[in-house]
Amino acid sequence: MAVSYKELGLVNTKEMFAKAVKGGYAIPAFNFNTMEQMQAIVQAAVKQKSPVIMQVSKGARNYANGTILRYMAQGAVEYAKELGCANPQIVLHLDHGDSFELCKDCIDNGFSSVMIDGSALPYEDNIALTKKVVEYAHAHDVTVEAELGVLAGVEDEVQAEESHYTKPEEVIDFATRTGCDSLAISIGTSHGAYKFKPEQCTRDPKTGKLVPPPLAFDVLHAIEKKLPGFPIVLHGSSSVPQDEVDTINAHGGKLPDAVGIPEEQLREASKSAVCKINIDSDSRLAMTAAIRKYFDEHPEHFDPRQYLKPARENMQKMYEHKIVDVLGSNNKL
Ligand code: G3H
Ligand code: 13P
Ligand code: ZN
Repeated sequence: MAVSYKELGLVNTKEMFAKAVKGGYAIPAFNFNTMEQMQAIVQAAVKQKSPVIMQVSKGARNYANGTILRYMAQGAVEYAKELGCANPQIVLHLDHGDSFELCKDCIDNGFSSVMIDGSALPYEDNIALTKKVVEYAHAHDVTVEAELGVLAGVEDEVQAEESHYTKPEEVIDFATRTGCDSLAISIGTSHGAYKFKPEQCTRDPKTGKLVPPPLAFDVLHAIEKKLPGFPIVLHGSSSVPQDEVDTINAHGGKLPDAVGIPEEQLREASKSAVCKINIDSDSRLAMTAAIRKYFDEHPEHFDPRQYLKPARENMQKMYEHKIVDVLGSNNKL
């Protein structure tokens, strides 16, 4: 039987994005696959009084089961209330939906927002697919994120060696004809912990660390000019904190030359029409760093609660840092 997100206490992105664009901040969109990630997201959002988007990829559905993740989102709302938040603003969002059927299934099963990612399709096919999803979603008061332009790196199963920046001259036509509620754009971010090849970066002479090329803010500003006030989304926005990478490498890991988007640039983007910033890899790094360190220091322990607790704490710290120091979505409830 179909269930509406409204019955679960979730909200769609409409009002949240309007406020964020007007207020010059961005809403965190954190991917989750596990209970510990969900708990850390809710604890961070409640403590910092932030709206939050909890997003589920196709891979997360395969890993954890879509039904379980949906009940976890419902649990997240109740948990937030239990932690003292009277009116939590939590969105359950499908990340990188790749078909109408998948989006429909999520809408029918309690999601309040879906992404239809037709960015790898020819322009007209992207429009047709996005429009079809928008029509179904809007009939259920569910909001839709679409994507125009291709990110470098792995976009689910689609490999894009080179990123193709979003063309500002296409965005009015795309947004008008599809009716989408927000638009993910390509301005140089990419998925994962290796966002740039070493040859694309310079090296900081003091630390030896890679310094990536700047994001294409000129493209972002040109898009904002074409669509004033329209909600823009940035995928692939993990910063790949070097202290977490160092901890991982110091305790048996092997992440050579992992590099992300510098936080100053995400801070700048958050002040613009960018009102949703997607972060997944930083959570993976925070969890892995804490667990690797714990295993190294406590080889005699084997109760998962012993190592998942510091992992959860480390993720919460990271989520709070993003909310307060990067996106500026704190104290907005
Ligand atoms: O954009 C991709 C997200 O980081 C989700 O990754 O497909 O491995 O769950 P995943
Ligand atoms: P990161 O890999 O940079 O965390 O990006 C996540 C993302 O865009 C999810 O859709
Ligand atoms: Zn993404």
